[in-house]
Amino acid sequence: MTILAVRLVGDPVLRTPAEPVTRFDDTLAKLAADMHETMEEVAGVGLAGPQVGVSLRIFTFHVGDQRGTVCNPVVEVLGGEEVDHGSEGCLSVPGLGFPLDRPARVRVSGQGIDGERLELEAEGLLARCFQHETDHLGGTLYIDKLSGEERKRAWRAIREGGFEDNAQSVLRERSGAVGSAFGGATFGGSAFGAAAQGGAK
Ligand code: NI
Repeated sequence: MTILAVRLVGDPVLRTPAEPVTRFDDTLAKLAADMHETMEEVAGVGLAGPQVGVSLRIFTFHVGDQRGTVCNPVVEVLGGEEVDHGSEGCLSVPGLGFPLDRPARVRVSGQGIDGERLELEAEGLLARCFQHETDHLGGTLYIDKLSGEERKRAWRAIREGGFEDNAQSVLRERSGAVGSAFGGATFGGSAFGAAAQGGAK
């Protein structure tokens, strides 16, 4: 398996709507395995294809003891009145975290890596993860969904000189600190530093 390099905000692949997965073959299985390995490397809870430069509708997740891979996900909100007032982060926007309200319960339906139909219901962090990762597949980052003032703060931080250097050092630290978290729930994985140099094939 291979640790994949994670794309940062500003990379066009993160803004490109991903293509549906149509071939459930060994190449897809290897991609999913590599995405899992990359995600575990930094104890991320989720990772979407575009974050590793692959414009396909696929994401991996690992929240508590629940882990898996979903292709061609569709998210349906359950319990529309309930809102999770948690905060969020993203390793494609590393070092930052902001509060973002999301529906507390969702159902995601899609396919597994063998093409089999799957349907998962989730609440709390897992529900947030499913929504965050599915957003990635449409070219949307969580910072796009922040309220006006928070969104301005986020973009100011991103545009500041040194964001990228800081981002890479945050990712390096995270890579060495399994189990750590910053900015609330962080979705993604990183592959900067030694691991990335060895693995970017
Ligand atoms: Ni993300």
